[in-house]
Amino acid sequence: MSEFKKALAKSELELGKGKVVEMDGNQIAVFNVDGQFCAVDNTCPHRGGPLGEGELSGKTVTCPLHGWEFDVCSGAYMHDPNEKLKIYEVKTEGEDVLVSI
Ligand code: FES
Repeated sequence: MSEFKKALAKSELELGKGKVVEMDGNQIAVFNVDGQFCAVDNTCPHRGGPLGEGELSGKTVTCPLHGWEFDVCSGAYMHDPNEKLKIYEVKTEGEDVLVSI
């Protein structure tokens, strides 16, 4: 059963940025989308690129390896609805960002 655990502090993640955190052996990319925090699997389904290191524009991250684009809040691949990233539930508590894992 999943439970919420602290991923990072809000202050560690600026608006419009992403960060990779390791939780229970999983690499998770957490993004600050205009003050809303979203979390997805860090591994790009194309060839394993690190999505947390990609450029974020609005809700869209661009994989740094070959440019696939994903919605970091829904996990949707912008060019094929059948490709989807695993998403994680996120909530904030005080200064902390918690991810359900
Ligand atoms: S590994 Fe992400 S687009 Fe190729």
